[in-house]
Amino acid sequence: MSSVELSVFIRAIGVHTPERTLTNAELSKMVDTSDEWIKTRSGIAERRIAGPGENPSDMGAKAAAKAIARAGLTPADVDLLIVATMTPDVPFPSTACFLQAKLGLRRDIPCFDVSAACSGFVYALQVAKDMMRSGSYRRALVVGAEKLSSVVDWSDRTTCVLFGDGAGAALLETTTEPNVGLLGNLLGADGNNAELLHCAAGGSAAPATADSLRDGKHFLRMNGKEVFRHAVRVMAESCERVLAKCDVKSEQVAWFIPHQANIRILEAVASQLNVGMDRFPSNLERYGNTSAASIPLALEEAWQAGKIKHGDLILIVAFGAGLTWGATLLRWHEPTR
Ligand code: UT7
Repeated sequence: MSSVELSVFIRAIGVHTPERTLTNAELSKMVDTSDEWIKTRSGIAERRIAGPGENPSDMGAKAAAKAIARAGLTPADVDLLIVATMTPDVPFPSTACFLQAKLGLRRDIPCFDVSAACSGFVYALQVAKDMMRSGSYRRALVVGAEKLSSVVDWSDRTTCVLFGDGAGAALLETTTEPNVGLLGNLLGADGNNAELLHCAAGGSAAPATADSLRDGKHFLRMNGKEVFRHAVRVMAESCERVLAKCDVKSEQVAWFIPHQANIRILEAVASQLNVGMDRFPSNLERYGNTSAASIPLALEEAWQAGKIKHGDLILIVAFGAGLTWGATLLRWHEPTR
């Protein structure tokens, strides 16, 4: 156990997206929709679709391997693995256990999943941080990995145009340097609104049957309008509350990295915070909504583009099924070696 106060920072990130791209033009041959409707209502032009046998643990392992390599480390250096997913490979065991085996992580480390839908990555970051600050774990992998294409009803135009597949991983490390890495955080949930975005069957309450399959109860269903309304309000409030908690003004934040659900949600949140869209990077156009993978995908893209600099304050914020939400303020840290 450590007696000094430890900070936890993201040392490296890595992503993986499937090869196959599904365009709006292709979707408009499958359901009654159009490129114009999808783009103007959501900002999405295309999304990636995982192939058969390309599961969240496979995509997550590839993303994690890149993060480990970028950090100049090996799988043996990882002390903790948390996978955030709403589309686990199977109901059990956890996707984290499959990923551990695929990556060849050590066997003396905890590996488990966090289920918080689109807020999963933000939840998992906080769980990892709290475990690491005890001093028991020096390095952790937090992975968001999703295969939404497996739970989407491809005949439901109100949902199938929105989602995509992919994975992103963050390699976290502890440091004794103060005021760096994950600074402040807020997590929340409202189970009274669970039905706004859910999958009705396939779990123990309603195991898959011929009837549930016929009625499409194993598919994701969403009340888009209501989710939209909650998402804007809660994401804006979460940002404001975390900023207040950390005594930071929104002008001091270099980048807001929101969960990529809908460009109109991002615009509304930015406007409520009085922040320009130039500080709200989005990759919705190319990936759609990838749930727990969307924040690491957007973060990695901003980092790859050279936008993120040592010392930058970054605010990540998410909202999803549950309902769940979370926000984390972090100071980007690139240690000198
Ligand atoms: O990750 C967190 C979870 N997800 C979200 O945050 C998503 C939140 N919700 C949304 O992004 C938006 O509500 C949607 C993109 C899902 C829908 O946008 P909207 O502006 O709220 O549209 P709407 O549901 O009010 O539908 C408007 C019209 C309807 O037709 P009528 O009733 O006005 O005749 C829909 O039937 O658009 C119709 N429609 C479509 N038309 C063409 C719905 N989906 C489609 C479609 N193509 N794909």
